[in-house]
Amino acid sequence: MCGITGIVSLNRGDIGRILVECGYKLTYRGYDSVGVAAVHNGVVDLRKDVGTMDEVDVRLGLSEMLGNRGITQLRWATYGAPTKVNAQPHFGCDETFYGAHNGNIHNYHEYKQELIETGHIIRSENDGELCVHAVDKYYEETQDMLEAVRLSTRDLKGAFAFAVGRSDAQEIYAVKMGSSLVAGIGNDETIVSSDLPSVLPVTSNVIYLQDGEMLKLTPHEVTVYRIEDGKVLDRPSQISDVDPNAAEKGGFPHFMLKEINEQPVVAQDVLGLLEGSKLEEWLRMIEEASNVYLVACGSSHNAGIVGTYYFNRLAGTPIIHAIGGQFEPMYGNTLEEDSLCILVSQSGETKDILNVLNLVRKNNLGKTLGVLNVVGSTLMFNSDSYIPMGCGYEVSVPATKTYFSQTIIFSYLAARLGMRNGKIDESEGKMFLNALRNDLPRLTQETIDHAGILAKNLARTMMDVDDLYCLGYGFTDGVAKEGALKIKEICYNHCEGMYSSEFKHGPLSIVTDQYPVIFVTTPEDSWMVINHINEVSCRGGRTIIVGEREDSLEPYVANEIDYLHVPKSDLLINPILDVIPLQLLSYFLSVDLGINPDQPRNLSKTLTVD
Ligand code: F6R
Repeated sequence: MCGITGIVSLNRGDIGRILVECGYKLTYRGYDSVGVAAVHNGVVDLRKDVGTMDEVDVRLGLSEMLGNRGITQLRWATYGAPTKVNAQPHFGCDETFYGAHNGNIHNYHEYKQELIETGHIIRSENDGELCVHAVDKYYEETQDMLEAVRLSTRDLKGAFAFAVGRSDAQEIYAVKMGSSLVAGIGNDETIVSSDLPSVLPVTSNVIYLQDGEMLKLTPHEVTVYRIEDGKVLDRPSQISDVDPNAAEKGGFPHFMLKEINEQPVVAQDVLGLLEGSKLEEWLRMIEEASNVYLVACGSSHNAGIVGTYYFNRLAGTPIIHAIGGQFEPMYGNTLEEDSLCILVSQSGETKDILNVLNLVRKNNLGKTLGVLNVVGSTLMFNSDSYIPMGCGYEVSVPATKTYFSQTIIFSYLAARLGMRNGKIDESEGKMFLNALRNDLPRLTQETIDHAGILAKNLARTMMDVDDLYCLGYGFTDGVAKEGALKIKEICYNHCEGMYSSEFKHGPLSIVTDQYPVIFVTTPEDSWMVINHINEVSCRGGRTIIVGEREDSLEPYVANEIDYLHVPKSDLLINPILDVIPLQLLSYFLSVDLGINPDQPRNLSKTLTVD
């Protein structure tokens, strides 16, 4: 949710251009509104409006803004409707202070009232404005900007990061209190941002910050301070090896299609990472735990459901999967000193997951193993150990390649555990690992090539559908839920993902003539799924099947395009492939419906709020 970028430059006069270029890379975090505050000759020029970076730039000429320092913000609305007045950055009481935040200020209402009572003029209903006023308030008392920023964090409750400056000061200050922040040191300019991709157009020389830290940017240096006592911290910079062009579409019309097409490479890369030196540590963490929880949200949770089946089947390891926000009320009291929480998050910043991380750490209730994609994320720095997904940037809001990588990670770990504890014999385990290593990248490519054509044609027949089900059984339980999530998320259709044997316990009543139900299956389970298909087709429903081609399933589809088949593979590879036709179906349907799948309405890729 929301992205902020601040730049302080010695020589640049065209600060708007670089702020727009860097800010654009944060589009995945929010696109309800955009603003730029640029300081030119000691005057703050603030332009902001509702819309994406591209739209607002055209409307207000953001990239033509002059100055040598400034802040931009891309908003995903929480406090206050997505309107111009609530867009960020904001001014303080007058036009001296400017700033923007990411995150939530939980004591918004009380603190706003307190500020109003002491004479502050609050113009918006957005909590980011309070960050600027808090600094303004303490500056009045201390006449010291560093101290004012530091003290402001005592008033502001919540999880947030903000950047703030003064019209008459060269510096920009930033604070990290629960939301992500990365700084960079370039040639005669420095930058701070919510995420690395937007730092890279300026420099690859970066500093990752921890919660409870603040920084001062001047054109030549970034100084990091501990908020608690204002002490200067030694935070050496490091050269990022991330390709600055990774956040480009590379010839594809959308990031989503590019990222789906990167999955064959992901299959290769993630195995390389898994077979590295930390494998023993990860396996031991699972083996030594009294109980293992797998906690994640959205697509990451769907991958966790698939993972749970692998752990059961290959390793006999019981895994309790839970969605992030539900974990504490449902399982909090069952945590023990030797529990393990596997926390799965692409961004490594999802608040619902960080809440669980904090719960475990604060109360010493066992260990945490992060599974994450974003290097330098809060989850990476704060879990006991972490497994990288190895996907490179995932820019498109709908998760595709990271879900895919997660299912490979879980299946791989399960096979390794099973081989160690004797649940599967050595040869069975080796066969599966060889299939992952040698066959999966090729099969993934074949699936994309083949299912892509079928999915594109199928999508054209589904333009009028606005309600459907996507059902899975056994290993495809999580796959079906993931397919349904994709369709909801980027096609705006109501699509419920469900366990197929459960459908008859109520939802079946929704089926009328031609009501579409997608069944996702593996050859192992199709004998059972046929029963569930019959229950739908005998009531006139339209059956769409995703899975390997099987003669027994052919009679249940009315025409060729209703059968999205994947290539033949090892039985346990199949559930990993089955998601691809669903990713492609949702993508093509979204595009046919005139939706931009990379930026579905109301959503943000990184949800750093409760
Ligand atoms: C759906 C999607 C979301 C995320 C969820 C968790 O396509 O992307 O459901 O999976 O918000 O995000 P992470 O994995 O970053 O914790």
